[in-house]
Amino acid sequence: MTDSTVAATPAAPVAAGAILEAHDLAKRYIVGENVVDALRGVSLSVMPGEFVAFMGPSGSGKSTLLQLLGGLDRPTSGRVVLEGRDISALTDNEATRLRRERTGFVFQFFNLIPVLDVRENVALPFTIAGQDPTRGETRERVQAAIDAVELTGRERNRPDQLSAGEQQRVAIARALVTRPALLFADEPTGNLDFATGTEILDVLWRSCNERGQTIVLVTHDAKAAAYADRVFVFLDGHVGDEIVLGRRAEHTAAPLISRLAQLGL
Ligand SMILES: Nc1ncnc2c1ncn2[C@@H]1O[C@H](COP(=O)(O)OP(=O)(O)OP(=O)(O)O)[C@@H](O)[C@H]1O
Ligand SMILES: [Mg+2]
Repeated sequence: MTDSTVAATPAAPVAAGAILEAHDLAKRYIVGENVVDALRGVSLSVMPGEFVAFMGPSGSGKSTLLQLLGGLDRPTSGRVVLEGRDISALTDNEATRLRRERTGFVFQFFNLIPVLDVRENVALPFTIAGQDPTRGETRERVQAAIDAVELTGRERNRPDQLSAGEQQRVAIARALVTRPALLFADEPTGNLDFATGTEILDVLWRSCNERGQTIVLVTHDAKAAAYADRVFVFLDGHVGDEIVLGRRAEHTAAPLISRLAQLGL
């Protein structure tokens, strides 16, 4: 592949048919006397089944944006539209419900419950929602999520009986078990070595490419971002660049790295 396959072609910031839209999002944090404008007017959209990555320096607003997009926090101004619904206008209860039913989150630290086994950890979203995960379709969904991250046979292991990569795969299965419209992942490979990180990225990639899972990934690592169809580069609270990589089976980072270098990053 050459540089010519990598275009910086900002489409219209918000496209028709998007599953997720950010309209002129701003987020201001005020802590004591200190005012931080973490986001300064971000507009973008994500299409159904797309894999997008957010890159950018530490403090550029990536995690803040992910939290707003996933309804974990509210913007100071602007709107987030998820599957056509303006989530900024929802009550807290409605937002919680939407988040539980339509989004999944994976973080750098796996946040598994140590006393629960793999099956119980993966089943947690159902248990929290008051459903019995040991019966019927729910049970099948839990098993399908475990199978999808290739942990079949490890259902009775507790987190301390698994490797770090396996623990992160449990976290991914837990995030995907409700079949969310959107999977948000904030530095999911940040705590893993290269080989284990690649294993996690391959799991995310398969869920996107084979099952149409829409993914928004935050990462510092160009090798991880190279799995995405599009990469948004954040600078000081706004979208500095959008790099279109396109869908491909090979995830070599070279074209993205050279494009980032051209941008002086
Ligand atoms: N809860 C908060 N209260 C106050 N300031 C915050 C809060 N969360 C983030 N910030 C500030 O907002 C800015 C953006 O933070 P954010 O965590 O979104 O950056 P990031 O791009 O995810 O960085 P990193 O790559 O280090 O994770 C930073 O200046 C940060 O200190
Ligand atoms: Mg962050």
